[in-house]
Amino acid sequence: MDAGLKFSRLVGALRAGEELAARVALGQSRLAPEPWMRRALQAQARQEQRHAFFAATVETMVGAAPRNPPVLGPLGDRLETDLKAGNFAASVLGLQGVLEHLGEALLERLGRHPHPAGTLLHELRERVLAQERGHTRLGGRCLAAIGTGNQKQTIADYEGLGLETARAVAGLLDDARIDPEAFWRSVGAQLASWRRAAGLLE
Ligand SMILES: [Fe+2]
Ligand SMILES: [Fe+2]
Repeated sequence: MDAGLKFSRLVGALRAGEELAARVALGQSRLAPEPWMRRALQAQARQEQRHAFFAATVETMVGAAPRNPPVLGPLGDRLETDLKAGNFAASVLGLQGVLEHLGEALLERLGRHPHPAGTLLHELRERVLAQERGHTRLGGRCLAAIGTGNQKQTIADYEGLGLETARAVAGLLDDARIDPEAFWRSVGAQLASWRRAAGLLE
């Protein structure tokens, strides 16, 4: 696959991630036990919708790939399952704890890419990253407020699914001439620091 095609698949993966985040945040706002959480999650869902629109615009600029990369499949399925089961804490671990950190790491890399769409990507990175960091903090606050109980297995499941997704993304980064090692370092550091901040490390 040539570098241009890989790049457009990366942007497609980002767009699909933002669409998934919008759906999940909206679902979470219906499950959240406190009014402040419901409001904050509705606001997050609106922001994710704008991110998806922004990513779709970049996707059009770089030329959409012929088919969507299937990188979000198992992680997305698990998020939808936890939402359907009404498991708010698990969905927060999956979205704000794992998927959002993958998105951040991907945005960091894409925003540095010397592509004709680079200026727009830089804009996307600057504006969106600040909001994504707010979303991961919101996830930590929600977990602290509800008290999560023993979530060891859920955390292990989501981290496994997140790493599987990150592996698929890193494969696309490699041939799009974006440093996959830097992506991995960023994913690892972000997951560890969020777990520490959310009090999820033993
Ligand atoms: Fe987003
Ligand atoms: Fe987000």
